[in-house]
Amino acid sequence: MSSAIEVSPTAEVVWDAVVLNGIDFDVRAGTIFSLLGPNGAGKTTTVNLLTALTKADGGTARVAGHDIATEAKAVRARIGVTGQFAAVDELLTGYENLQLMVDLKRGGADRRVVEDLLERFDLVESARKPASTYSGGMRRKLDLAMTLVGDPRIIFLDEPTTGLDPRSRRTMWSIIRDLVADGVTIFLTTQYLEEADQLADRVAVLDQGRLVAQGTPTSSSA
Ligand SMILES: Nc1ncnc2c1ncn2[C@@H]1O[C@H](COP(=O)(O)OP(=O)(O)O)[C@@H](O)[C@H]1O
Ligand SMILES: [Mg+2]
Repeated sequence: MSSAIEVSPTAEVVWDAVVLNGIDFDVRAGTIFSLLGPNGAGKTTTVNLLTALTKADGGTARVAGHDIATEAKAVRARIGVTGQFAAVDELLTGYENLQLMVDLKRGGADRRVVEDLLERFDLVESARKPASTYSGGMRRKLDLAMTLVGDPRIIFLDEPTTGLDPRSRRTMWSIIRDLVADGVTIFLTTQYLEEADQLADRVAVLDQGRLVAQGTPTSSSA
């Protein structure tokens, strides 16, 4: 399978108005695809559509070879999603947040997985502190670590670095690069041209629900 994500030319979502209008793209397995656009462009709606949280009003899309409309369960089983707003439980420690994820996905305690992820994301020292005491960057890292439980091969990251300081942003970038080096497909949304340029193999520019440009980073930023 060479395409991790395929979206038909007529894919659209209509709320009060048309929110996504004929988006059309293809994401090759093992690459980073970036959806670049300002607030309100429809990035989160696209993520929700492709992760089978929102139904399309037109068109079709396949994720990991499965139709998002008729095989939503199979799609969800094969992807990881880190939403725009951290899914971290503030009252739990970093360790407990990860353990909860392991319990949900694997139906059993697996200390090794939790400890490996804490180490990989440099969260060992704060693992026993409640997530409410974490910085924005730490919270994002924990959120992504939680997404990695179960080893998904396609990961959706909705604005993973919005609001982060430059150092945390760079850490996040290097974690994302490591994932792709490992063969994971990344669908990343961002408001930052620089981020798309730095990370993506392909960039699509979304504006008011329409794809207005698509290409490799250098050509789309020209
Ligand atoms: N559940 C909803 N009902 C109605 N309109 C929505 C809903 N979700 C998003 N929208 C609208 O869809 C548009 C795109 O939103 P969104 O996908 O969140 O953009 P982005 O993530 O790029 O900021 C916005 O105009 C937003 O107000
Ligand atoms: Mg959004």
